[in-house]
Amino acid sequence: MATDRPGSDDHELDHELTQMLQTDRFEPSDEFKQGASLTDPAIYEQADRDWRTWWTSQAERLTWFKPWDQLLDDSNPPFYKWFVGGKLNVSYNCLDRHVEAGRGERVAFHWRGEEGEEQDITYADLLSQVQRFASALKDLGIGKGDVVGIYMGMVPEVVVAMLACARIGAVHNVVFGGFSPESVAERMEFSDAKALITVDGAARKGKVAPIKRNLDPVIAGLEHLEHVIVVKAKGLDCELQAGRDVWYHEIVAQADPECPAEPMDAEDPLFILYTSGSTSKPKGVLHTTGGYLTGAASTHQNVFDLRPDTDVYWCSADVGWITGHTYIVYGPLANGATSILYEGAPDYPHRGIWWEIVERYQATIFYTAPTAIRACVKWGLQHVQKFDLSSLRLLGTVGEPINPKAWLWYHEVIGGGRCPIVDTWWQTETGSIMISPLPGITATKPGSATQPLPGLGIAVVDERDGKPVAPGEQGLLVITRPWPSMLRTLYKEDERFVETYFRRFGSETYLVGDAARIDEDGYCWIIGRIDDVVNVSGHRLSTAEVESAIVAHESVAEAAVIGQSDDLTGQAICAFVTLQGTSDGDVTVETGIRDEVAARIGKFARPKRIIFADDLPKTRSGKIMRRLLRDIAEGRMLGDVTTLRDPAVVAELEVKISEEHATQA
Ligand code: WTA
Repeated sequence: MATDRPGSDDHELDHELTQMLQTDRFEPSDEFKQGASLTDPAIYEQADRDWRTWWTSQAERLTWFKPWDQLLDDSNPPFYKWFVGGKLNVSYNCLDRHVEAGRGERVAFHWRGEEGEEQDITYADLLSQVQRFASALKDLGIGKGDVVGIYMGMVPEVVVAMLACARIGAVHNVVFGGFSPESVAERMEFSDAKALITVDGAARKGKVAPIKRNLDPVIAGLEHLEHVIVVKAKGLDCELQAGRDVWYHEIVAQADPECPAEPMDAEDPLFILYTSGSTSKPKGVLHTTGGYLTGAASTHQNVFDLRPDTDVYWCSADVGWITGHTYIVYGPLANGATSILYEGAPDYPHRGIWWEIVERYQATIFYTAPTAIRACVKWGLQHVQKFDLSSLRLLGTVGEPINPKAWLWYHEVIGGGRCPIVDTWWQTETGSIMISPLPGITATKPGSATQPLPGLGIAVVDERDGKPVAPGEQGLLVITRPWPSMLRTLYKEDERFVETYFRRFGSETYLVGDAARIDEDGYCWIIGRIDDVVNVSGHRLSTAEVESAIVAHESVAEAAVIGQSDDLTGQAICAFVTLQGTSDGDVTVETGIRDEVAARIGKFARPKRIIFADDLPKTRSGKIMRRLLRDIAEGRMLGDVTTLRDPAVVAELEVKISEEHATQA
């Protein structure tokens, strides 16, 4: 049975957690420190003084076919090159070397299907599947440098597909399964993908979504797409277009079971992952081989204090996001970890399923998003208390700031008060964790990601002059020194890469896009995005992208989207919409708008709140004033509105909002 600490019901617990908010820091326990691999705080200072030696030591975790000649080529910032001249293969590092060392029988993944299906996949199994599929890809004429899209659910083949690409030097471009087919097509087009690996269907809380069938109409016109490979994951019938589409199981059956890992240059591309930026066109973040894998392996080891012989590690993210890439696939496999790979949602078939899985596989490390923790808080203790979580020894969070109360709930209820929490700050662009506690060293403060990891240069600067602000003051977060797993460019958009990240404070200072402050103890507190990116349940969305989806609706004239704070999802999408002609907004139009967004981006991007207005507040030059809309939506006092073209617009909106509140009450 589960431990009964703390409070035995939700009400009592809430009271206790409120009192605990007084505790400002949590030291690592002696018990935890005893087994931890990093316990000496001196590594920060050493790595800071000589970060080249630090990165050398981290890269030496990997097996290199040929050592590098130069650690870092910084002659042309911001186009940095790491481990110049080095050769390695990511799939070799994730698989072959463990098998060669006699660890082939170790479980790489305990896969768990949505309906409770189970499959244990060892390192030897994974290697053999990856080799076959890599051979099959080669048979189709796919090779080094070709872009391969991947759009599937959390089935074991998604990992096989990623590693098979890495094995032959193809560049994968995974699209999160929650994105709509249209988004997939767009990402395939932008990246000139030659092949797309997908599934017949994907499990969605007891239903099966017909993925391949939904893709058919939108991928038909893709000029570069020569092959579609379909994994029969759910036994659905699919139409296979002759000459283009093949079944995964058929091509692997005929493929050579052996496929040696291609020696890749350290700077050869490993993958592209599209993420949202401040325009409606997603950014193709490009990561390369040696630096990315160094960052993934190093942070996965150090931040999670991984003990590969005994740990059972679980990252609950989806492989379609960067967290899944780095901390489900590449970091854990490079380190020879045993992980859990779970297909389903946290509330299907019941709201305690995550905890049932922790107990079932005796998970020791659990890594999730604050939004999921807040959902669990809301569902209540009863779903947790049924299960024994005593195997857990370390917890992590990622994706958005965690409010101290949710942090404490996680610490007490899931961690039984004994597990350190690593609140990890990073981005798709950074490739791996940047700011986080080292659990055997760092005292944590609930709500703070604490300090930059060893070897990194991070600062909070004044937005006007780029100079560091005083402790406790808010400013812009920047990274002042290159790091191995940094993005190398935006795919086919070098200029946009420079413009987005390296223009404001020069080519050697990476602009993160987050506001933050660093307190007197050197602890970082992330405030949130400064650009037009909204973070909904840890999913990055561009306001411009959602706006263009809304405007695609036939009745809409204009739309402005903002992120509004939300108790559950961190931020929620709020859309201000003006309609064409004299038409009024009603439920039908609202539903139509949400459907339009679901079709163009994905269901997770649908606006939570839609406010119809006759006009939107604009500056005299015609720019929509989003700051003002944010204030209006959150019911804040408005500042100076005299710069507006038509101040009356604001008054009208305020009336709308107060009416909305009145109907809700
Ligand atoms: C936010 C996810 C506060 C931040 C790995 C960042 C966080 C954006 C944290 C990147 C955290 C991520 N605390 N905020 N621990 N982790 N963020 O690219 O705004 O999907 O810029 O990468 O998420 O989101 P992305």
